[in-house]
Amino acid sequence: MKTKIINSADKASGEILKGGIVALPTETVYGLAADALNPGAVLKIYETKKRPDFNPLIVHVSGISEFEKYAVSIPNAVYKIAEKFSPGPVTYVLSKRNVIPDIVTAGIDTVALRIPSHPLFREVLEKCGRPIAAPSANMFGRISPTTAEDVLKELNGKIEYILDGGRCPIGIESTVISFEGERIFVLRHGFVTKEEIEAVSGKEVTEIKESASKISSPGMLKSHYAPLTPLYFTDNIEYFKNKESSVGIIDLTVYGNLREAALNLFADLRAADEKGYDFIVTKYVENKGLGRAVNDRLKKASSGNVIIERDKVTFLNK
Ligand code: TXA
Ligand code: MG
Repeated sequence: MKTKIINSADKASGEILKGGIVALPTETVYGLAADALNPGAVLKIYETKKRPDFNPLIVHVSGISEFEKYAVSIPNAVYKIAEKFSPGPVTYVLSKRNVIPDIVTAGIDTVALRIPSHPLFREVLEKCGRPIAAPSANMFGRISPTTAEDVLKELNGKIEYILDGGRCPIGIESTVISFEGERIFVLRHGFVTKEEIEAVSGKEVTEIKESASKISSPGMLKSHYAPLTPLYFTDNIEYFKNKESSVGIIDLTVYGNLREAALNLFADLRAADEKGYDFIVTKYVENKGLGRAVNDRLKKASSGNVIIERDKVTFLNK
C-alpha cells in the first residue's frame, strides 16, 4: 500500500464512512481515525498501531450536545468545564451507552469523549455525521506525531491516507479527566492544566498516580512516547555539551515558557532520534501547570537517569 498525503476533508470522510482508517490533524497531535460505531474499522486502528487490546480509544464528537448519545449520568461539572474548554483538548471519561462498541473502550464500561477544535477534523466530523475514534497516529509506545510527515514516518505503507493540516498548534495531547460523585480526577495530564480545571469547576482535582492507574486508565503505561535512542535524565546537561561523543541534548527549558516547551516536545524528541546519537540527555521542566504534562511525557519516554561522578558516566536504567 502506498500512503498518500491528501488535503481533502471530503476524501478523508469518504474513507471513514467506507470503514477505512485515515490519519488526520487535531489541535493536539495527529490522530488515526475510524468510524467509532463500526467495530471492524476500529479493529484496524488497533492492528495498524499494534496497540494492546486493553487500551481504550478516545471518541471524538462535534459538540457537547452529542455527549448524551454516547454517555449516561453526565455530571454537571462536565458542562461547566466544556463551556470553557470545548472545543478543545479535554477528554471526559463517562459511563458509556451500549451504542459504543466494546472494542472502542477495550471492554470497559466507560467511554472517553472529546470535542476537537481543529477545523479540518471538525469538517470531517460534520461530513461523516458519526463519532470518530482516534488514538494518536504513532506506532504503539512511540513518539506522537505533530505533522503529516511525522505520521508518514510512523505509518508509511500501513495506511492509505494522511489528511494534512500542517503542524498541530498545541503539540501535546488532551487532558483526560474522570468523575466520581462530586470528585474529579486527572488520568492523563495534557494541555489544559489541573489548575485550570479546578478554577472552572470550583472543585479540587485529584491526580491519579501510576500505581493506581491500571484500573482507572489502562493506557497510562510506564513506558510510552519513546524514541528508539535511549533517553536519560541528567542534572548536569552542561557536562554533555561540547563533548566529542555522540550525545543528543533536549533542553526544553530553553523555550522560556511551557507552551513553547509543550509545542516542541515531540518534534525535538523525533528530531534527536533521527540523528543517530548513542543516547540523548534531557531534564525536567518546572513541574507545575502545563509542565506536569511535559514532564510526564519525558518520564515515560526515558530509559532512566545518567549520573556523572568525577568524569565517570553511570546509567541507571528504570
Ligand atoms: O489529544 C488527544 O487526546 C489525542 C488526539 C488524537 O485526540 N488522542 C490521544 O489518544 O492521545 P491516545 O489513544 O493516544 O490516548 C488516549 C488516552 C489513553 O491513555 C487511554 O488509556 C485513555 O485516553 N482512555 C481512553 N478511554 C478511556 C477510558 N474509558 N477510561 C480511562 N482512560 C481512557
Ligand atoms: Mg498516544
